Amino acid sequence: MAKLLIRGGTPLKGTVEISGSKNSALPIIVAACLAEGESVLENIPRDIDVYTICRILQELGAEIWFDEAGRLHVVPDGLQNYQASYDLVRRMRASFYVAGLLLARLGKAEVPLPGGCALGSRPVDFHLKGFQALGAKISIEHGYVKAEADELVGNKIYINRSSVGTTINLMLAASRAKGTTVLENAAKEPEVVDLAIYLSSMGARIRGAGTDVIRIDGVERLRGTEYVIISDRIEAGTFMVACGITGGELVLTNVVPEHLRSSIMKCEEAGMEIEEDINSIHVRAQGRPVAVDLETAPYPGFPTDLQQPFAAMMSIADGTSIIRETIFDRFRYVDELRRMGADIKVERDTAIIRGVSELTGAQVEATDLRAGAALVLAALAAKGETEISGIELVDRGYEQLDAKLRQLGADVERIDDESNVFEEFLTRPLLRRI
Ligand code: EPZ
Repeated sequence: MAKLLIRGGTPLKGTVEISGSKNSALPIIVAACLAEGESVLENIPRDIDVYTICRILQELGAEIWFDEAGRLHVVPDGLQNYQASYDLVRRMRASFYVAGLLLARLGKAEVPLPGGCALGSRPVDFHLKGFQALGAKISIEHGYVKAEADELVGNKIYINRSSVGTTINLMLAASRAKGTTVLENAAKEPEVVDLAIYLSSMGARIRGAGTDVIRIDGVERLRGTEYVIISDRIEAGTFMVACGITGGELVLTNVVPEHLRSSIMKCEEAGMEIEEDINSIHVRAQGRPVAVDLETAPYPGFPTDLQQPFAAMMSIADGTSIIRETIFDRFRYVDELRRMGADIKVERDTAIIRGVSELTGAQVEATDLRAGAALVLAALAAKGETEISGIELVDRGYEQLDAKLRQLGADVERIDDESNVFEEFLTRPLLRRI
C-alpha cells in the first residue's frame, strides 16, 4: 500500500504542466492495435492504468514500449491471442475496450466481465447489445464474455444512455466492420473525439464525433501512424480546485480550456479568478471559496470525475452547497471527509455540504481514484497532518501527483510499503519484446 503524509495550510503557487489524458490514452492505445504497422503516440501519461492496458495488449501479442523521449510505440502485428487474462483485466474497467479490438481484428474475443468497483455497479450491457447488433454471437461463461463474429456488419445502434465506454467500444468494433454503423445517442466527451481523430488518421472513416450521432463506414485495413493525444481535463480540473481550496495561485500549462468550460464556470462561481490562454489557464483564489450548487452530467456538463474534488472544496466554503451526482454512486469519500471535520449529509444521489471554517488532519483511506484526489485536496487545506492510504488508486489516474504538488510548495511525503508496479513502470519502462 502506498501512503501520503500531508501537512496542510500552504497556498499552492507556481506553474504545473498537465499530463496527457488517461481516458484518451486508454482507448487510443487499444485502437493502435487495430492497425497494421507501428503507431507512435505522444503525450501519453505514465500512470498505472496506462501501464495496465499496455501489459494486457502485450499479453495478447502486441509489442509496446516507451522510447527515451517518452513516446509510446505500439506494434500490433504479432497480436493473435483473443483471450485477455483475468488478473490484469480485473484491475481496470477500461480493459473491456479490448473486446471491441479483438472482435474487429480476430473475429473472436474472450474477455473477463469487468468487476464492480467503488463507483457502484457498472454493467456492460450496452456494449454487448451493440456487439450483437454488429453481428457478434455473445455468451457469458464463468465470468467471461465470449464473443464471436465471422464478419462484423454495420448497423444502426441506439445507446440507451450517454455512455463513454459503449461509444468507444462500438467505434473500435465498427471501424473495420462491413458497411456503415450509426451510433445514436453517442457520448460527446473530448476523449471520444480524440479517438475518432486518431482512428481517422489511420484511415478510418468516421463522421459526427462530438455530436450524439456518429457515423462509421467500416474499412478493410487501418495503418499505424503518429499522434499526439489531448491533455487530461480531469487532472487540470483537479489542480484548479487544489488552487481554490488552498487559497493559492497557479498557471496550468498543456491544457485545452474549451474542455474545461463547465469546470471553469463552477470555479468562477465559487469565487476564483480564471484567465484563459491558448493552451494554458491562470487560476487565482480570492479568499475563502463561496458555496456553489452543482449537478454532474455527461459532457459538456460538469464532469462526474470532478464531483469529489469539488465537494472537498465546498466542505470549507462559505455557505451550504447542494451537489447532485447523476452518473455513478460515488459518495463513499464523504465518510472520510467527515473524519476531517466536514459537515456533509448524503440523501440518495445528493450531498448537502455545510461549509466549515477549517478541516483538521486525520488518517483516511482512498476508496477510488477521484475520491483519493478529493482527500489529497482536503489534506492540503486541513490544519495539521493527514495520512492518506490507498494512494496506489490515485496513481491509476494522476502522473506523479505528489511530486507535482511538492513543486507547487505543498508539504507532501510519499511512503511506499512495498515496491509497487508503479515504481517498476517508472524505473523500468515497458521494454520492447526482443
Ligand atoms: C468513463 O467510464 C470514464 N472512464 C470514467 O472515468 C467517467 O467517470 C465516465 O466515463 C463518465 O464520464 C474511462 O474513460 C476509462 P459510462 P465508463 O459508460 O465508460 C451506465 C475516471 O475516474 N452504463 O459513460 O465506464 C454506467 O453504469 C473514470 O477516470 C450502463 O448502464 O462510463 C453509468 O451509470 C471513473 N451500461 C453510465 O452508464 C453499460 O453498458 C455512464 O457510464 C455502460 C454504462
